[in-house]
Amino acid sequence: MKALVWHGKEDIRCDTVSDPEIEHARDAIIKVTSCAICGSDLHLFHNYIPAMMPGDIMGHETMGEVVEVGSGVNGALKKGDRIVVPFTIICGECEQCRRGNFSVCETTNRNKHLAEKVFGHTTAGLFGYTHLTGGYPGGQAEYLRVPFADATHIKVPDSMTDEQALFLSDIFPTGWQAAAQCDIEPDDTVAVWGCGPVGQMAIRSAILLGAKQVIAIDRIPERLAMAEAGGAITINFDKESVVSRLNELTDDKGPEKCIDCVGFESHISMAQPDSVLDRAKQMFMLENDRPHALREIIYACRPGGIVSIPGVYSGFSDMVPMGALMNKGLTIRTGQTHVNRWTDELVQRIEDGQIDPSFVITHTVPLAQGPEMYRAFRDKQDSCVKVVLKP
Ligand SMILES: NC(=O)c1ccc[n+]([C@@H]2O[C@H](COP(=O)([O-])OP(=O)(O)OC[C@H]3O[C@@H](n4cnc5c(N)ncnc54)[C@H](O)[C@@H]3O)[C@@H](O)[C@H]2O)c1
Ligand SMILES: [Zn+2]
Ligand SMILES: [Zn+2]
Repeated sequence: MKALVWHGKEDIRCDTVSDPEIEHARDAIIKVTSCAICGSDLHLFHNYIPAMMPGDIMGHETMGEVVEVGSGVNGALKKGDRIVVPFTIICGECEQCRRGNFSVCETTNRNKHLAEKVFGHTTAGLFGYTHLTGGYPGGQAEYLRVPFADATHIKVPDSMTDEQALFLSDIFPTGWQAAAQCDIEPDDTVAVWGCGPVGQMAIRSAILLGAKQVIAIDRIPERLAMAEAGGAITINFDKESVVSRLNELTDDKGPEKCIDCVGFESHISMAQPDSVLDRAKQMFMLENDRPHALREIIYACRPGGIVSIPGVYSGFSDMVPMGALMNKGLTIRTGQTHVNRWTDELVQRIEDGQIDPSFVITHTVPLAQGPEMYRAFRDKQDSCVKVVLKP
């Protein structure tokens, strides 16, 4: 089959590889009908997350049709079912899964010892996301093996198109969880840093959850325009001071709820000397992350507020202002998304017409164009916000 394969830094190719086969009783194989490139894939593209190996298949936003099931799937799935595959592989049975903490499932990471060493504990197995999270082949491919498939799937109503359903795999629940864990109240201002696909979903989720105003921060005009179309007030950080504008919009008090949809690859700019220093330290392996946005968020957030961090951090971040965080009594909420925790509610909201997540798609291309689309998405060429690939 054809698949997008990681060969090294900024080197992803569309290769011919072996078709996946059932390896365990709880596996299923799907024929992929649609898949997408995520901002998290860019961290791998840049080789910032350790434990990728040449030959690894990329991708963790995938859906398709079940073509084979193992003997242990026990009727949960059958040939011909149409499913979205959550990016987190879950057993559905361990203590964390029973609590709905699916992204920290205790069972599915095949390389637990690695995760335990790096993080102190294991986290769930993830598709196409390094050997630290199990080294599972990803779904930017013609076929995907879904391990623990009896639990790791979302059945899609026939009424929904691929484009409406696909993002239930990751970015829609990710934006939703980011907003939901802000405990939004009707008087709240929610500020969202980063207007990539995750930021766009967080903005619309915060509005659906009843925020008084939502403020979106980025520097890419078409992403800011998309945020505005979704109901946000926008700040272009290249053109104005983020903190001053946020204060202006909140009677000098700051937003109660702040969401970091940027993560550890904050934009590097001479106007933000700390981002330049982070880049230098990153090059000399003195720091993993560039947390400029997180620093700004902690500074801008109203005392007593909540900082929600769906943006991915890879390792160690320097100069996080712990003094401001502690003295202002901020609450931090974060995590890889517990995808299946939100599925029923989000399917319902799509069916009710409250949101159509396909609004974020700007490019739909054949899988073979994947390698060039990684660059286009990274460089925001041709107004690229979200790429869907068709195998
Ligand atoms: N927690 C999860 O489960 C989960 C799931 C999916 C994605 N993510 C993470 O969410 C983050 C965003 O993903 P995405 O797909 O939207 O990626 P993206 O790279 O398209 O978006 C990031 C956006 O942040 C903007 N940005 C950069 N520096 C900024 C700054 N200083 N202030 C404001 N905006 C700034 C960029 O211009 C860009 O538009 C990534 O770190 C990704 O890994 C997390
Ligand atoms: Zn993702
Ligand atoms: Zn589990």
